[in-house]
Amino acid sequence: MDVVIVESPADIGPLVASMVIGLLERRPGSVLGLAAGDSPVPVYESLIEAHRRGEVSFAEASAVTLDEYVGLPPGHPQSYRQVIIDDFVSHVDLPVSSLHTPDVHAADLSAACVEFEAQIGRLGGVDLQLLGIGANGHIGFNEPSSSLASRTRITTLHPRTRGDNARFFTSAAEVPYHVVTQGVGTVLDARHAVLVASGEHKRQAVAAMVEGPVTAFVPASALQLHPHATVVIDEASAAGLQLTECYRFAHEHRPRWCQY
Ligand code: GLP
Repeated sequence: MDVVIVESPADIGPLVASMVIGLLERRPGSVLGLAAGDSPVPVYESLIEAHRRGEVSFAEASAVTLDEYVGLPPGHPQSYRQVIIDDFVSHVDLPVSSLHTPDVHAADLSAACVEFEAQIGRLGGVDLQLLGIGANGHIGFNEPSSSLASRTRITTLHPRTRGDNARFFTSAAEVPYHVVTQGVGTVLDARHAVLVASGEHKRQAVAAMVEGPVTAFVPASALQLHPHATVVIDEASAAGLQLTECYRFAHEHRPRWCQY
């Protein structure tokens, strides 16, 4: 796991965007895994700016989403499909038809989860999965105690996550109880996992993910098992780490030919 500590949340966007741009230069038809939430927004903003400057095209790329609420009407502004369209897809040349999301309106949700995994397989797998982290250590909507081998499935949110996400809704009662999420095992299949986090409220979760034991109690800790995981965090969210000097040293002395 590579840990990159940047000064402020504003520094996260350009660095992670450069990873995505580098990938698309090497393989324009890459498959991106897109996440919702506040954390990836600076990355989307940097990519949109780069696209406007003509530095990157998504025309041949595809994308899959990480997770989704169950029970919101199609097109609800807080459905993650809609959030990702509004925050990113509608501002670049990625065709909306190339954005693949689980069908959370299907009568048979379990079959829709199996189909979503099959869709990822048909696309050839995810090249770069963007991730945030929940304050309780979740990735996607894989809450503590999620199997580290889990696949895309329907699951129930923990009360803390419902509370954390209430800020996006007009009232806390509106936050759905159920979600579909890529499993931890699905996330681990991505060829490159890039997790971004910022803010003091992520300090404990980041420390547990990077330096704690690999445990289903902290689903993000499964990234320690990933052969190519990059964690890009600001000073505030890195404050609980013990080896910050080592991470900084490794980043400063990283050979130029060695891309994240
Ligand atoms: C939600 C999402 C996660 C996201 C997490 C943190 O629960 N399902 O994918 O990483 O919240 O969100 P934020 O980046 O807004 O703090």
